Amino acid sequence: MIQNKQASRAALRQRRRLIPLADRRRFNDAIQQVLLDSGLLRRAQHIAGYLANDGEPCIAAFTQRCEQGKQSYYLPIVKKQRLLFARYQTGDLLINNQYHIAEPIAVSTLPAKFISVILMPLVGFDHQGNRMGMGGGFYDRTLSFIRRKPCKQRPLLIGIAYSLQSVDHINRRPWDIPLDAVVNENGLLLFSNKAIGLLRKTKSAQQMN
Ligand SMILES: Nc1ncnc2c1ncn2[C@@H]1O[C@H](COP(=O)(O)OP(=O)(O)OP(=O)(O)O)[C@@H](O)[C@H]1O
Ligand SMILES: [Mg+2]
Repeated sequence: MIQNKQASRAALRQRRRLIPLADRRRFNDAIQQVLLDSGLLRRAQHIAGYLANDGEPCIAAFTQRCEQGKQSYYLPIVKKQRLLFARYQTGDLLINNQYHIAEPIAVSTLPAKFISVILMPLVGFDHQGNRMGMGGGFYDRTLSFIRRKPCKQRPLLIGIAYSLQSVDHINRRPWDIPLDAVVNENGLLLFSNKAIGLLRKTKSAQQMN
């Protein structure tokens, strides 16, 4: 079972890295357009994303728009096996962490609970909102408060992926935190009532304007 998961993780990561550059550019543009059109982030005050690594979709153009608007943009930094979110603006100084992933030099950080939307990279996703990450458990550990009832305040979790990262089924383990939605180059997939409710609100606000 564990071997299976490791093998499919490796195969999916390789598939993601092998996307030809021209396709990758086209897919990245489409993903960012879907994010923009969805309106899901329009009212979000604190948005966390990531810097693309290992063939992950690059969302830098989208996140620069957030930085330039009234929204605050954050990148994850690893602290004691969990993630904190550090304010980031393009051009800020970055430093490689122990996993060779660039992080901002944290001046001010926010715990996950106070982030409005987290744009999460992933290795694989299924159509029930299950997410396979890199296997460190960092996002799951960071977001474990969501499993505690009642959880009044929590971020909307949007997986960012290429469609070729879609798999039939991912076993949800007790510690896994499911996604509210996935954005890929073909569109938006909604999994939770939180995401569906937010989208409805956005659409009815658009109709009233
Ligand atoms: N809340 C938690 N508390 C303690 N350990 C955890 C927690 N969540 C995950 N882990 C540990 O992390 C390990 C990796 O988890 P998993 O395989 O789900 O990673 P992943 O979801 O692919 O990675 P990530 O969340 O970093 O993207 C698990 O074996 C589990 O023991
Ligand atoms: Mg997990």
